[in-house]
Amino acid sequence: MLDETRESFRKVADLLSHLARQQSVRTVVFTGVTPRCGTTTAAVAVAKELARLAGLRTLLVDMNMRRPGVAKSLRGDITPIEESWESLQSSTQPLSTMSTASVAKLRVLAPAISPQASVSAELVKKVVDRAAQDFDIIIFDTPPVLGYADAFVAAGVTQAMVLVVEAGQTPFEVIDRIKHEVGVRGITLLGAVLNKHRRFIPGWIYRVFAR
Ligand SMILES: Nc1ncnc2c1ncn2[C@@H]1O[C@H](COP(=O)(O)OP(=O)(O)OP(=O)(O)O)[C@@H](O)[C@H]1O
Ligand SMILES: [Mg+2]
Repeated sequence: MLDETRESFRKVADLLSHLARQQSVRTVVFTGVTPRCGTTTAAVAVAKELARLAGLRTLLVDMNMRRPGVAKSLRGDITPIEESWESLQSSTQPLSTMSTASVAKLRVLAPAISPQASVSAELVKKVVDRAAQDFDIIIFDTPPVLGYADAFVAAGVTQAMVLVVEAGQTPFEVIDRIKHEVGVRGITLLGAVLNKHRRFIPGWIYRVFAR
């Protein structure tokens, strides 16, 4: 991973740690524009940073029921909590006491799910209700916005969204349309992470988010 990419993940973690400390944002959805743009990579990197460097009690939830990727992305670093969504909803054991992690303050929820399942607002709310007492910040990794409603559904019951954009892959008009869709839903878009960029950042990225 390029230093620039790592630094842009650190910037997001820094912003989120400030907002979490102020208690203004404690639940955030990570989504991408296109499939494979690096949403999961960004969510995992930011969650580790929040737990390890910012010292926040962090919960990372794999809410990509289409193509879960968090467990794989962790590469054995951390053992995720893998109970089914059904047993997680009925269990009362605090999530903070479950699973072992090499990063002390990070817990990861990566339940086995069926590929047909889609995110529901009710499920996201249940996770938030169950984890709110034990964690300073909860990050939801979700599918890309092009093609799936899941990220918007999840962001409707969380406090903010972070958008991952793969450099050179997304036309200006598409980002603009996503920004509009986010706005009409009243979702707070904290910003975009430019992933897989090669030292050159197209000017339109700045133009779009400066509006
Ligand atoms: N900054 C990066 N540098 C190098 N490889 C990367 C980077 N970001 C992501 N990748 C690689 O690209 C692939 C897709 O990444 P990732 O799973 O994070 O994307 P995603 O947007 O979550 O995909 P999906 O649409 O399946 O949810 C993975 O093989 C990952 O290792
Ligand atoms: Mg993913």
